[in-house]
Amino acid sequence: MHTLSQHIAQIREDYSLATLDEHLAGDDPLALFEKWFREAEISEITDVNAMSLATVDASLQPHVRTVLLKGLEDGGFVFYTNYESTKGQDISFCNKVSLLFFWKELQRQVRIEGVAERVTADLSDAYFRSRPFGSRIGAIASPQSREIAARDILENRIQELLKQYGEDDAVPRPAHWGGYIVYPRKMEFWQGRSSRLHDRIVFESDGPQAWKKYRIAP
Ligand SMILES: Cc1cc2nc3c(=O)[nH]c(=O)nc-3n(C[C@H](O)[C@H](O)[C@H](O)COP(=O)(O)O)c2cc1C
Repeated sequence: MHTLSQHIAQIREDYSLATLDEHLAGDDPLALFEKWFREAEISEITDVNAMSLATVDASLQPHVRTVLLKGLEDGGFVFYTNYESTKGQDISFCNKVSLLFFWKELQRQVRIEGVAERVTADLSDAYFRSRPFGSRIGAIASPQSREIAARDILENRIQELLKQYGEDDAVPRPAHWGGYIVYPRKMEFWQGRSSRLHDRIVFESDGPQAWKKYRIAP
């Protein structure tokens, strides 16, 4: 009888679906990201736009969580959240962040390191308006990342807001909610290969359009 720990240690997957070389990678990491994203979508991966977002707080404690990629604008990766949440506070302290996509079915991982900035109020407004009514109400009601004494408090607040707004489409975007855009400075494309000899191609830049490309060891 194996313990769970022994069982976990024996889980093994060999990767052999595809390869990535310097030529295939091209010279533009955002173009390669778009190609891989479309291929992930075609593969019907669920939550294809889900990404891990890592931030660091004032005590240098890292925090990681999933958020949804909601746009590729102006060479950056856009997501929406509560500006007063833990991640919002972290980004106010240090706007250097990391993003990670793991598209298991394609045996691919993309790591992105860059700087996060708030998107314009116009862009946040436009995206907020496009969200379903319930999500807009939820964004107003939820003090994301703060302790709440009971779920009822949240649900009562939602009921109050529902009464206040009815089915009114004009629910305003709260000031504490909006988007960030992450401008990449470094992107690593990882393609799983057999016997753990994976392909890893890195792009690094000091400024826009000046990408240096190199391979690193698996
Ligand atoms: C699949 C998935 C998608 C999510 N998308 C978002 C998102 O786009 N924005 C967001 O604020 N939280 C999203 N969350 C919730 C976050 O992971 C997290 O719980 C929340 O943002 C609070 O994080 P924080 O306390 O570190 O700020 C998502 C969670 C999952 C599992």
